[in-house]
Amino acid sequence: MKEIERIDRCASELKSRFGNLPDRAIILGSGLGDFADRLADAQALPYAEIEGFPRPTVEGHRGELIRGMLSGKPVLVMAGRFHYYEGHPLSTVVFPARVLARAGVKKLFITNAAGGVNTGFSPGDLMLISDHLNIAGTNPLMGDNLDELGPRFPDMSEVYDRDLRELAKNIAKRLGIELKEGVYAWGTGPSYETPAEVRMARALGADAVGMSTVPEAIAANHAGLKILGISLITNMAAGILDQPLHHREVVETAAKAARRFGALVEGILAEMP
Ligand code: HPA
Repeated sequence: MKEIERIDRCASELKSRFGNLPDRAIILGSGLGDFADRLADAQALPYAEIEGFPRPTVEGHRGELIRGMLSGKPVLVMAGRFHYYEGHPLSTVVFPARVLARAGVKKLFITNAAGGVNTGFSPGDLMLISDHLNIAGTNPLMGDNLDELGPRFPDMSEVYDRDLRELAKNIAKRLGIELKEGVYAWGTGPSYETPAEVRMARALGADAVGMSTVPEAIAANHAGLKILGISLITNMAAGILDQPLHHREVVETAAKAARRFGALVEGILAEMP
């Protein structure tokens, strides 16, 4: 079966299981694990029940799509994403974003946890993604182009939609939540960066580094979706502070910021035009 047929089969399945699909979807990153609890009338569809949809390999990751209401607006939540470092091919990493696009989603909100590269940042900060740097040395659009989704050589001059960014800033201001802004650099992981790599990322213009988001954003942009991205800075990237980096620190900071991050994300999703 061709890739586009696999994508379209899952998109049809989504539409038949959920009925009318929302025009907005969110990919939950670390720190937003409980975000779906904010939904009213939540209806969950495990990935395992969608024939041809990838399965999460990371223990404890939810792996479901949830349709629900936020302030009276229907939203689709993707709880459990696929990372390149898990060993999935990039076509799998971006598969859900492509399914959402073919199912009629128009706006994709991507969230993640990231390390702060900008020394003006602190753990717990939220960063609106203004642009990204792909320093992973690969690209999810390599291979045959899926002409049904988009062009061979897609424009990337505004991956993160200007109007949605403006909206995010306005809502953050209204809610009294500080929102930094910057460039997110994607490395494959799973090892954290070395201090030299962090200095390189900073010299290249990065404000944060992480192991997700960019593949999904490239594929969603290719498919014509409007994208908004916000990173939760869970730690300062390696070498900035004189201390080693622990996954535990990432998880703890994410948990502490969950309410604030969730409130901002909810406000933005509810007011997306
Ligand atoms: N580097 C890469 N990915 C991350 C980090 C980091 O410091 N923190 C959370 N995700």
